[in-house]
Amino acid sequence: MPATIKTDVVIMGAGAAGMMAAIEAGRRGRSVVVIDHAKAPGEKIRISGGGRCNFTNLHCTPANFISGNRHFAISALKSFTQHDFIDRVKARGISYHEKTLGQLFCDGSAREIIAMLTDDIRDTGGRLQLSAEILEVRQAEGGFSVKTSAGTWQGQSLVVATGGKSIPKMGATGFGYDIARQFGHAVTDTRAGLVPFTWASNMHDSWGGLSGVSLDVRAVCNGAAFDEAMLFTHRGISGPAMLQISSYWREGESVEIDLAPGTDLAALLKTERGRRPKVSVWTVLAEVLPKRLTQQLGQAAGDRISRLADLSNAAIDEIVAEIHSFSLVPGGTEGYRTAEVTLGGVDTADINQKTMQSRLVPGLYFVGEVMDVTGHLGGHNFQWAWSSGAAAGRSV
Ligand code: FDA
Repeated sequence: MPATIKTDVVIMGAGAAGMMAAIEAGRRGRSVVVIDHAKAPGEKIRISGGGRCNFTNLHCTPANFISGNRHFAISALKSFTQHDFIDRVKARGISYHEKTLGQLFCDGSAREIIAMLTDDIRDTGGRLQLSAEILEVRQAEGGFSVKTSAGTWQGQSLVVATGGKSIPKMGATGFGYDIARQFGHAVTDTRAGLVPFTWASNMHDSWGGLSGVSLDVRAVCNGAAFDEAMLFTHRGISGPAMLQISSYWREGESVEIDLAPGTDLAALLKTERGRRPKVSVWTVLAEVLPKRLTQQLGQAAGDRISRLADLSNAAIDEIVAEIHSFSLVPGGTEGYRTAEVTLGGVDTADINQKTMQSRLVPGLYFVGEVMDVTGHLGGHNFQWAWSSGAAAGRSV
């Protein structure tokens, strides 16, 4: 085992947030080591956005984040904005495009973002120590000591950037929460966010058959609403609208889904009743909704009269209400296995919002997903990693 190496800053976790903290600290002349148990840095960046990394969002604001303290993210997001990160991407010559709703993706590969970050770490004199198992973290004279399978580092500042629990197959653990508790920090309840829903057992047989059907919907739960696409899968429902609303949903609750947002189905059916009285209501609905979905809705309606001519205004309104506010109680979610993020985490109450420094232990910092700050889908989680990482890097 090599002797203890002294450095200014020890960063645990070579993900988006840890690498950004390293770069900003290195630019200030601080000596930095970034320690990770993985073989490669930025593994989640590599797999993100289908391999193209949705690295930020043009419209990112504090309203795109969920946290016990909804004001916490404001300062860091303002100090290092999406435009600051875009400037770096441009300066590096990485070409990118807006896919939808302000979401920026690399034209080529997410690996370009990782290469930019690792080159910046190297150019600012930082060191990346990969494949290192962290064995012990403790306060030492003048700072912190981190003992790993690859050596022991002693630093004045310690940055916890080990992310959340999502995708355990990639090595995600609750390590950062354990370290937070070790130093007296509270950790709020964690759960899977941005995650597909699974069917309740009584829905699986009938609704599972719609796998592959997608449509634009409005999903509503606990005061949040998202207008995006929804996708039926064998296991349940997914797609951006469902991933977004999953972050607001709790076990046992229903999600209200408008299957035809912005379309006045009642007016449509009443008009068509005059024009095509013999036609079935489901036939007309299949002209504005996916056919397989209307077949399923028709089956779920059972023996109910379906010929337009036989439907009163009240009966039409009843059918339409079920489509505009389709109420679904999911059986659950796919959990951390496929979740993009972990909701909850290190309580922000004891963290300085400008610097990410602990209010309890001077020199200790938390950045990125390990904290109780979770972004919406669409590049906001990486923006939080860049902004919180930069805030800490400028303070350590
Ligand atoms: P992150 O998890 O990236 O990094 C933590 C690092 O700590 C890892 O390198 C890990 O190996 C290391 N570590 C953990 N425990 C350790 C231990 N005990 N010892 C040593 N090292 C340890 N967001 C977005 O904005 N746009 C997108 O396109 C996507 N896409 C996406 C796809 C998928 C499949 C997932 C799972 C997630 C996304 N996300 C996303 C979310 C985004 O990836 C996530 O919010 C950030 O990576 C969080 O960055 P952090 O640096 O905080 O953690």
